[in-house]
Amino acid sequence: MDRSYVYDFEKLGFGLFVHFGLYSVLGKGEWSKNILKISDNEYDKLIKRFKVKKTWAKELVNNAKKAGCKYITITTRHHDGFSLFDTKGLSDYDVMHSACGRDLIKEFVHECNKGGIVPFFYHTLLDWHVPEYNLDFSKYIDYLVKSVEVLCTSYGKIGGFWFDGMWDKKGADWQEDRLYGTIRKYQPTAMIINNTGLSELGKLGHKELDSVTFERGKPKFVDKSERPVAGEMCQIFNDHWGYAKYDIDYKPVKTLIEDLVDCRKYNCNYLLNVGPCGDGSLRTIDKGILEEIGKWVSLNKGFIYNIKASTITAENADVLTDGEKYYAVIKGVGMSGNPNVTIEMGGAKKVVINAKVTNAKWLDSGKSIPVTDNSFYAEPFLYGTSMQVRVAVLELEI
Ligand code: GLC
Repeated sequence: MDRSYVYDFEKLGFGLFVHFGLYSVLGKGEWSKNILKISDNEYDKLIKRFKVKKTWAKELVNNAKKAGCKYITITTRHHDGFSLFDTKGLSDYDVMHSACGRDLIKEFVHECNKGGIVPFFYHTLLDWHVPEYNLDFSKYIDYLVKSVEVLCTSYGKIGGFWFDGMWDKKGADWQEDRLYGTIRKYQPTAMIINNTGLSELGKLGHKELDSVTFERGKPKFVDKSERPVAGEMCQIFNDHWGYAKYDIDYKPVKTLIEDLVDCRKYNCNYLLNVGPCGDGSLRTIDKGILEEIGKWVSLNKGFIYNIKASTITAENADVLTDGEKYYAVIKGVGMSGNPNVTIEMGGAKKVVINAKVTNAKWLDSGKSIPVTDNSFYAEPFLYGTSMQVRVAVLELEI
């Protein structure tokens, strides 16, 4: 089977993860029903309060593009069992039966296609809503497979599926052949990803899976010796995937950028999450972070996309390549200025490349870099700019 679509996925490089559902109305995270022990009765009332503004998908796609994301993976159904898509009669617990009354996945795919973003579908495997999940598991699998079939056949070509929750019933018969076979039948080049969760990062399961996951971990090289397999690390801005109004534990923008380049150095993708509020809009701070990341991506000419790990090693830098040029990525370069206003962060680091460097320049400014014995100083950004992660473009004689 031709699995070259896996390499196309790797080239997308950077994606936006979106956790959106009934829990977004509550604003206490996507696990609130379970962890805060909210009764079915109480929780299900949210369906009457789920009103989503018309422009939500357009805004989402615009924000993703500002950050430099090339794909969006959205929760079509999360653990609470509520579907953002028209289940076509499979369940009453879907968006068509909510106050919103519109197929949000249809709107989402439409805006993605319009904006040149590849749509991906997250789908839960565990389900807190459907009784069959605990009472009649094979009947539940029928429902799951039919739901996936609806997603495969209603929205045109999609980039892939992202499953999550198998870890909840490890020994159960999930009928993976049938589940993945359904996708292969309708969407032969869709990526199939199944999150191994926090406990089994990077573990490759079923033979149909096209990527391993590193949820909130650190990426690593993925073994491609038997078949093409991608790697993807997902990360949250703060401590919840779904919108949590009182979560201020945001990571620094530079940390998120460092994660992104760490992913790329292992040929992995970075899937960065936002949790829209109940009406589908993003928190102001989330929009801001996406915009700031986007500035770094465009200052560095989008080199993060068509890039791979290289065999060249270096001191104080990671060396990546696009097949022609090499890119030395240096973290924590600091900012220079004047002792009255800047705190010089450790002075300029010396970068030593373990190969013959014939030419070097900064990717952000195009300024040439003086090189002596294949080494150079990681010149800090000058006062006025403090991007922390700096990239040198190298020509090497190998
Ligand atoms: C975990 C959580 C889930 C979240 C996912 C994202 O598996 O159960 O809420 O959707 O991680 O990676």
